[in-house]
Amino acid sequence: MPLLDRAEWYDLARTTEWTPSYVSQEELFPVGHSDGQGIPDDAWSKYDEPYKVSYREYVDTQRQKDAGAYSVKAALERLDLYKNADPGWITILKLHYAAVAVVEYNAALQESRYSRWSRFPGMRNMATLGTLDEIRHSQLQLYFAHEYAPKDRHFDWAHEAMFTENWGMVAARHAFDDMLMTRDALATAIMANFAFETGYTNLQFIGLSADAARAGDYTFAKLIQSIQSDEARHAQIGTPVLQAMIEAGQKDKAQNLIDIAFWRSWKLFTILTGLPMDYYMPLEHREGSFKEFMQEWIVDQFARSLQDLGLDKPWYWDIFLRDLDEHHHGQQLGLWSWRPTLWFNPAAGVGPDERDWLEEKYPGWNDTFGKCWDVIIDNLKNDRGEKTVPGTLPIICNMSNIPVVGTPFKHLVDFPLEHNGRLYHFGSEVDRWIFEQEPERYEGHLSIVDRFLAGKINPPDLGGVLQYMGLGVVSEGGDDAHGYAWMEKYKTTERKAG
Ligand SMILES: [Fe+2]
Ligand SMILES: [Fe+2]
Repeated sequence: MPLLDRAEWYDLARTTEWTPSYVSQEELFPVGHSDGQGIPDDAWSKYDEPYKVSYREYVDTQRQKDAGAYSVKAALERLDLYKNADPGWITILKLHYAAVAVVEYNAALQESRYSRWSRFPGMRNMATLGTLDEIRHSQLQLYFAHEYAPKDRHFDWAHEAMFTENWGMVAARHAFDDMLMTRDALATAIMANFAFETGYTNLQFIGLSADAARAGDYTFAKLIQSIQSDEARHAQIGTPVLQAMIEAGQKDKAQNLIDIAFWRSWKLFTILTGLPMDYYMPLEHREGSFKEFMQEWIVDQFARSLQDLGLDKPWYWDIFLRDLDEHHHGQQLGLWSWRPTLWFNPAAGVGPDERDWLEEKYPGWNDTFGKCWDVIIDNLKNDRGEKTVPGTLPIICNMSNIPVVGTPFKHLVDFPLEHNGRLYHFGSEVDRWIFEQEPERYEGHLSIVDRFLAGKINPPDLGGVLQYMGLGVVSEGGDDAHGYAWMEKYKTTERKAG
């Protein structure tokens, strides 16, 4: 049988729309799952997939990508990266695998829901392959992390993390459940594919891939390039959805979804990417600062894609730009201090040379965040290590579920809200605004601190908290990544001065 050219059959093959005769459109595509209210009937078939590929081509490409990633891994295994890499780099791997691998599986469920519920036939086609993308690279990341598990039980968290009540995972689940798992197909495509994927995953997958290569971890560099090539394709699912909504006069609704998802993603990436780039990455391998990556990928590129669609920057853009300079430094102080509650060993990243770099990239750092580190360093120098671990719990934001932080000597503000007799705390005006958009969506959730105060964590002490968070079972909580070796330079300096 002669083979037809792709162009001769593709348009016919992708036309999977039909008119239901046994049920009504409303029954087939119920509002809660599908949405689409107010979008005219003839708009649905106009969805033009931004990325066209046949199933045969798809499988062939994916097979080659898998072969590339697995063969690099096999070839480099004997270099024993775990033993030879800087501990700061190993920390980045632990953080990444735990926060990302199983979330990719959630993303497979997210994409598969479009295949069933989206009224756009073109979106259903793209999402079917998107589902396979997410399954592929969720398995890839679990497999790559597994190699390290016998050497270091922190790597068990690649699989375990999302099933624990660790505070970091509570924060991640709260955000991902909101954006990926609990909204109709159209809202999810805008939040997860457009705002989260085209906006932020580039930062983790492209920025971190370059860092990995410089740190000598070519296996990880290849792995996340492979993932990014999946993401870059299915991330485009959201754009035609936005266009259809804007054409149907629903710009405000679309903008609202973007504003919520952009901020929720920002808070996650301050920790997931911000701390690795500015603190965990060995100084000699850093290319740019987190802020510089954010400026290139978000402030310039994402803002341009909003503009191209006729959308606006989120209303809180000025607050976001200020946060770029400050927020993750506060989180670094918090995470390093509460290190027993982590499944990885955070790097302090504040030796004298690192501090010069931080001051250069973030002018004023030494006079603000640096002053807090001065106290920590003084305690470590004088054998008061126990004073560097707080004896109390932080205030946790009821939206982002990460600690409420500020800039020392400048501002630290809690944004409270009383709602139905309960007092909620928020780390920013924007987190509080998100809550107010749909209080019934968020009001029942208890942060880790709320749970502690409600008597749900027993015994109510540090040991009880750690056990509740899943630490001390398969692996212990975190400690300084470099075993405080970075303190040596401070001790030497003092001896010389004295
Ligand atoms: Fe993914
Ligand atoms: Fe994805």
